[in-house]
Amino acid sequence: MAEAGNFRTYHEPFVGGGALFFELHRQGALRDGAVLSDRNPHLIEVWQAVRSDVDGLVERLAEHREYHDEAYYYRVRAEIPETPTGRAARVIYLNKTCFNGLYRENSRGRFNVPVGRYTDPPILDEDNLRACSVALADVELRCQGFEEAAAGVGRHDFVYFDPPYVPVSKTSVFTSYQKGGFDEADQRRLAQVYLDLTRKNTRAMLSNSWAELVLECYGAFTIHELSASRNLNSRTDRRGAVSEALIDNFQQLPSARKIAV
Ligand SMILES: C[S@@+](CC[C@H](N)C(=O)[O-])C[C@H]1O[C@@H](n2cnc3c(N)ncnc32)[C@H](O)[C@@H]1O
Repeated sequence: MAEAGNFRTYHEPFVGGGALFFELHRQGALRDGAVLSDRNPHLIEVWQAVRSDVDGLVERLAEHREYHDEAYYYRVRAEIPETPTGRAARVIYLNKTCFNGLYRENSRGRFNVPVGRYTDPPILDEDNLRACSVALADVELRCQGFEEAAAGVGRHDFVYFDPPYVPVSKTSVFTSYQKGGFDEADQRRLAQVYLDLTRKNTRAMLSNSWAELVLECYGAFTIHELSASRNLNSRTDRRGAVSEALIDNFQQLPSARKIAV
């Protein structure tokens, strides 16, 4: 459906869980390395630990798995470990055991999601962590905002933007993963960055919700409508398929020697 062509370095400026990066790595499509960035320093610290100290991480998560219960969750949530690996294990542990796997911070930048109700949360998935560690071995990890990330993109590179989505329902609000959030002005600045990259002839793809603001900002590009399943709603009757927009600028670029992504 979307084809990126041959590219040099792969960039993901809103890496989060890195879904597309890991899929492209699995396909052997990343021949010239990758730069993964995110504004969240705790998240980048997790990927750094997965890459550089997977043994230590496995050890710490095995301890968390052994002690996990509600009281332990709140103790771990309240304390910040001194070592990078300890902090990374804390973030993974909280992510696997918190309510709905959400990531949310209060105004002081402290993670504030309550404990989730699980019988056997997957606190340690050793095979997966080790596979991720191999995938990340030669990757550059940077803690930076999307504008800084885009400034480091070369003309023959390929960029995939997966920003916090524009809210679509009447009750949802602009996403606030972190203090600072990501509001309409950020969405518009991102659209400008996308346009600037296109003017430099850099291939770029972007996903977002199927929202008026998105259709307006990216009207000059190819917009594919995708149906995605979402389960991040506290009301189960509101979970289900939603439309998402996948935008690419490949038609706007002169050279199109294509391979599928
Ligand atoms: C929708 S998530 C990315 C999902 C990711 N592609 C995945 O597969 O999990 C958005 C990410 O953007 C990050 N973020 C929010 N504002 C940012 C900004 N201004 N610059 C860079 N990253 C930002 C958040 O920390 C979060 O990790």
